[in-house]
Formats: sequence, C-alpha cells, structure tokens
Amino acid sequence: MDLLNCKHLRFFGWNSVTCRCVVLLVIALGLRAVLIPKSSGLAGIEHDNVMMIHNHSLSSNSKFGIRKLKFLEVPQIVWGLNNQKIAFARACLTARMLNRTLLMPSLSASLFYKELDLLQPISFDKIFQFKRFNSHCEGFVQLGRYSDLSNRTDVIELRKGSGRKWTVERDLDQLRQFSTDLYDGYEIIRIVGKNPFLWHDHWPIKDYAKVFECLALVEEISKEADRVISKIRERGRELNFALGIVRYVAVHLRIEKDWMIHCKKLEQRSNISEICSSKEEIMERVGHIVGLKTPTVVYIAVADSLLEDNSILNGWKEGFVPFEKKKLGVVGIYKKYPYLIQSAIDYEVCLRADIFVGNSFSTFSSLIVLERTQKMITEGVTSSCALDVRWPSYAYNILGESNGPRKWMTNMSSSNLRAISYGTNDVSC
Ligand SMILES: *[C@@H]1O[C@H](CO)[C@@H](O)[C@H](O)[C@H]1NC(C)=O
Ligand SMILES: *[C@@H]1O[C@H](CO)[C@@H](O)[C@H](O)[C@H]1NC(C)=O
Ligand SMILES: *[C@@H]1O[C@H](CO)[C@@H](O)[C@H](O)[C@H]1NC(C)=O
Ligand SMILES: *[C@@H]1O[C@H](CO)[C@@H](O)[C@H](O)[C@H]1NC(C)=O
Ligand SMILES: *[C@@H]1O[C@H](CO)[C@@H](O)[C@H](O)[C@H]1NC(C)=O
Repeated sequence: MDLLNCKHLRFFGWNSVTCRCVVLLVIALGLRAVLIPKSSGLAGIEHDNVMMIHNHSLSSNSKFGIRKLKFLEVPQIVWGLNNQKIAFARACLTARMLNRTLLMPSLSASLFYKELDLLQPISFDKIFQFKRFNSHCEGFVQLGRYSDLSNRTDVIELRKGSGRKWTVERDLDQLRQFSTDLYDGYEIIRIVGKNPFLWHDHWPIKDYAKVFECLALVEEISKEADRVISKIRERGRELNFALGIVRYVAVHLRIEKDWMIHCKKLEQRSNISEICSSKEEIMERVGHIVGLKTPTVVYIAVADSLLEDNSILNGWKEGFVPFEKKKLGVVGIYKKYPYLIQSAIDYEVCLRADIFVGNSFSTFSSLIVLERTQKMITEGVTSSCALDVRWPSYAYNILGESNGPRKWMTNMSSSNLRAISYGTNDVSC
C-alpha cells in the first residue's frame, strides 16, 4: 500500500512538515475508511437542488482544443502546496488526455491528513484566478464549473487502483480505455480512488510547465506577496542608500531536523553525497555567488519551526544581510491565512526573487526553478546557465564555480516529472 511507503512520501517533499511514518499508518487507515466513499460524493459540495441558468452561447463545443461539454471530476486535492500543484497539473493533463474539461477541483487549505473534516477543502478559485487560467491555457487544458453541467447524473466512475500492483502501465491503459468512444457518451467521468494524482506520471515536463504558467494567484493573495516583497526591497534600499528597485536573493533553507535525517538516509541509499547541506555550507556558498553585488538582502524562506532559531541570521558573509519573516516584521501577514496560502505567499516571494538559491532535492525548490526556467524560455532565453541572465537560480547542495552554489535550470526535455518530485543532482548547468 503506497501510503505506508514513507520513502515514497518523503521524496514528495513531506519532510518540511511534521510527518512521521507512525502518523501515516494511522492516516492511511483513516483515509482508506473515509476517503473512498466520500470522494464519490464530491459533487455534493454544489447545491444539487438549485436550478442553474445556462448561458448557451458559452456551452457550444469548441471547434479546436478541449471539448467544453464533456467533463472530468476528481477528488479533493490534498497535502502540501507542492503536492497539490503537481496533483492539480496531473488532473488537468488527465482531462486533456480524455479531451474533457476539468471540473474545478477543491484544494486543501490545511495540512491535516487524518480527519477529513480538518482537510479544509478550499475552492481552486479562492487561491488561483479561474478566468486567467482558462484564457492562458485555452486549447490546452480547461477548467469548468459545476454550473456548466447539464445533467449531473450522467456520470461514469473511473476507479483508479493503488498500491504496488497498480503500475504506471496499468494506470495509463485505463486512461486510454476511458478515452474511447465507449465512454464518450457520458457527460462526466468521475475519478475515484485515494489520492489518484500523487503517484503515476505520464506526461513530459513541458506539459507541467504549461499548466503552471496558467496559474496566477488571486489578487488578494498576490497583494500579500507584493507587501512582503516590498518590505524586502525596502530593507535593501536602506542598506544600499539607493532609490528605486533593489535586488534581493531568496534562499530556501532546508535544515530542519526531519529533513536532515531524511537527506542523510537518501545520501546513503542513493550513494550521492551532495544532498544535505549544513547551515554553514549554505551561508558559505551563497556568499560566493559570482557577480553578486553587495550589500544585498537575503530573504530566508524557512519552516516556521526555525523562526525561533536566531542562529540562521548569524554567520552570513559580510554584505549579505539576512531576513526571515520575523525580522522582516511580516509574520502578521502570514498568520492571517491557513497553511496553503502561507506557503503560496512564500513560494511567490522565492519565484520573484532576483536570485533564487535552493536545494535540488527539495520539491518546493525544484518547482520554483521549473517556473523560473519557463519564464526565461518564454522571454527567449535558451540557456540560463550563462551568468548574466535574469532570474538565475542556484542549487546550494552542489558545489559550483568559485566555491559558490551550482547554477541550476530545469531540463525541459525530460519526459517526466521525476527530477522535480524525487530530486536530482543533475541540474543542467
Ligand atoms: C453569455 O456569454 C456571452 C459570451 O461570453 C456573453 O456575451 C453574454 O453576455 C452572456 N449572456 C448571459 C445571459 O450571461
Ligand atoms: C478534442 O475534441 C475536439 C472535438 O472532437 C477536437 O476538435 C480536438 O482536436 C480534440 N482535442 C484534443 C486535444 O484531442
Ligand atoms: C441524465 O443522465 C441520466 C444517465 O445517463 C439519464 O438517465 C437521464 O435521462 C438524463 N437526464 C436528462 C434530463 O437528460
Ligand atoms: C558509491 O560511490 C563511490 C564513488 O562514486 C563508489 O566508489 C562506490 O562503489 C559506490 N558504492 C555503491 C554501493 O554503489
Ligand atoms: C536533458 O534531458 C534530455 C532527455 O532526458 C537529455 O538527452 C539531455 O542530455 C539533457 N540535457 C542536459 C543539459 O542535461
């Protein structure tokens, strides 16, 4: 049973939370009992007995792209921000394969796994802009609303398997089968099963990048990220006695105790020595980034548990002035929101940093580098390994030039998301 496979889960970037295998055992049993029957009732979130008025000029089948009158419904998307982004993209790409519009799924605002009522379903459009998603992804993937449905009972269930015997091939065969004429008559294909999008991967990395490109935070949340970023730049201006926009470096510091235990094990198992980096090594390498003008502000994205550890603010090379949420005075901004939104704000602050430094075995870091690489490609840059590109990223766990961190870009030719979800020390530069 996959849920019990802690190796599997930890690869997915679970280490930042207080996930323990023991807890998982309890959760897994709980999920099995509760999730399966519940997931098939997801449509119940909407009010079945309300008459929906359809706008028929919208509900014609588009000539190109994705069919707008055939739908895919998926269970609530769960776990950490990284897992939810990946699972959401997989749900979109599954819908694309079936040439169907994805009914806007629920995400999870909290990091609880055990009890479903603590999972806090939160509608996708509370976090990400719905219209923008559809306009940017037009012809590639589409989201629909439950109010677009004409017949809510015209449903066929697609039950995904789980566990060791449920292989990538079986998963793909099943999707192919549901792409055939046999199932085309149904208005809705409803996927049921436990966390069906966390395990199997059938799509090239370029497709994921396209989906992520269509995701933009809703205004309320992106304004909060703006507030954090402008505080960071303000501190930079004070340091530089400068006016206008000043650059900042964001470092995703992974040094929590459970991460260190995990990464040491991973180093042993995979016989790769460059996975764990100590606080000292990270500070040292960031201090040697070639061409970086100092003084500079360093924003440290770090687990809340480490905010009490003042030592993360000490030991940086001269000219590198570190801030985390607390020293920056923005804890209040984050505290207003549940886990998912807090995490999304931190993600945005790292994404928009002038320089990003992370760990190439962290899913959070890897997703950020993927999006930064995609941003550069969109602007016409083909290799971000050059020193003078915009939005450079680095992996501090790998030694690069002049004792600095290694330049890092995502290899967009990969045929799957493995390097992102499982980590890699092959950072293409
Ligand atoms: C239906 O959609 C079309 C196209 O988006 C729009 O122009 C029209 O105003 C809509 N009609 C209603 C009744 O909402
Ligand atoms: C989906 O179906 C429509 C209508 O049959 C077709 O024109 C379109 O090419 C299909 N799209 C994909 C991605 O297969
Ligand atoms: C809705 O779909 C169900 C199942 O296919 C079918 O039995 C029923 O007649 C449909 N209702 C309408 C109003 O089309
Ligand atoms: C681990 O890597 C080292 C050096 O790369 C090599 O000498 C050794 O044989 C490897 N050990 C295993 C178990 O693969
Ligand atoms: C990127 O991945 C492709 C396919 O896996 C591989 O052939 C290529 O060598 C990689 N490029 C770099 C720069 O690592």
